[in-house]
Amino acid sequence: MRITIVGAGHVGAVTGAGLAEMGHQVLLVDRDERVRERLGRGEPPFYEPGLGIMLRGNRSRLRTTDDLAGAVGESAMTFLCVGTPSDATGKADLSAVRAASQAIGAALAGRTEPHTVVVKSTVQPGTTAGVVRSAVEAGAGRTPAEGLSVVMNPEFLREGSAVQDFFLPDRLVIGADDPAGMARLEALYAQFSCPMVRCGTSTAEMVKYASNAFLAVRISCANEIGNLCKPLGIDAHEVLDAVGLDDRIGPRFLGAGLGFGGSCFPKDVRALVALGAALGTGATLLSAALAVNDKQPGTLLDLLEERVGIEGRRIGVLGLAFKPETDDIRESRAIPVVQGLLDRGARVLAYDPMAVGRFRALFPEIAYAASAGEVLSGADATVIVTEWPEFERLDYTGLAVVDGRRCRRAEETAEVYEGICW
Ligand code: UGA
Repeated sequence: MRITIVGAGHVGAVTGAGLAEMGHQVLLVDRDERVRERLGRGEPPFYEPGLGIMLRGNRSRLRTTDDLAGAVGESAMTFLCVGTPSDATGKADLSAVRAASQAIGAALAGRTEPHTVVVKSTVQPGTTAGVVRSAVEAGAGRTPAEGLSVVMNPEFLREGSAVQDFFLPDRLVIGADDPAGMARLEALYAQFSCPMVRCGTSTAEMVKYASNAFLAVRISCANEIGNLCKPLGIDAHEVLDAVGLDDRIGPRFLGAGLGFGGSCFPKDVRALVALGAALGTGATLLSAALAVNDKQPGTLLDLLEERVGIEGRRIGVLGLAFKPETDDIRESRAIPVVQGLLDRGARVLAYDPMAVGRFRALFPEIAYAASAGEVLSGADATVIVTEWPEFERLDYTGLAVVDGRRCRRAEETAEVYEGICW
């Protein structure tokens, strides 16, 4: 099948490469020329393990273009993968979704062959039916009865393991309000053996938000337990490891530490809080999860202040990406940590194996080291912000470390060692 992907960001590029690997002809539409050029050469525009190999291996089935109308016009399916960042009130900003939906509708005007629009972007319940479908149908001038379906198929890809997540999902969720749209998505994913959840578009939209909200709440719950453990001299990780052995709870996403960042959890939880305000129901627990998360960087800095001092000190920062195996710094905990260090009068020397380029654009005023070792030898004390595996291989002997991510090697070898909640 010929498939158009609108938006070649993380979700779009991985989905496009995955669909090409499945044998489809894929057209990646993006307005950023640099992104198109790199994808056209088989190079991912961001760091994502395994994506380069897949792009290069499927070059004959992948094309990039800025011509949305042309691409949609020659495809049987269009995936909507544009961003939905938070607006000033915390709601998901739908302007890119709206614009793309109108453009897709216009591209389908006058065409009669069946077409399915698949919403991958994370959108508030009701958006697929109320915003996307109405714009697409208005532009195209036809409805599901005339072969045009708009379905919702949320993505659960994690940055850093997105390729694996594409091919080995825990479940596929297909939200369709018409049987033909449902049937086309079922056929697309026929080779996947995981559970397939069939539901309406609004339910699918909510499944995505609820999944991210649940995981974010788990992390904040682990951090709150950790914040209670610390003054009692109890190791939160020992506690949570034991808690996670309960089959009803499970061990994953209980990693107490500096909290969650990235382009998804903070934004999606804020969107549900805004939804709760709009509906008048409130979202007390989700607001609290954000509050706990916001507190963690300050807690780390307070510990550093207490053990080593900050003003006038040269403080090393290990890790800038929001998690390992990515160069993404969106809402990374490194941002409030570095800002807090500067506010408290520190000189900062930072290192990340992948994210220095992006972080430098945000903080040009701090110093960057070429290696983690250079940070350790040049700093009075070091904070660990991202759990890159290479930090487990360093020698922290004689050094002062305040750890936001539980680096065992630092704990064993540093002279002064303080964990954020252990
Ligand atoms: C998340 C979800 O896990 C994906 O299923 C979803 O598709 C994606 O958002 C999205 O909505 O697009 P991602 O943000 O890439 O994926 O990364 P995660 O691995 O979920 O980590 C998010 C943050 O939580 C990171 O900052 C990580 O350090 C933090 N985290 C994770 C913890 O602090 N503790 C943990 O135990 C686990």
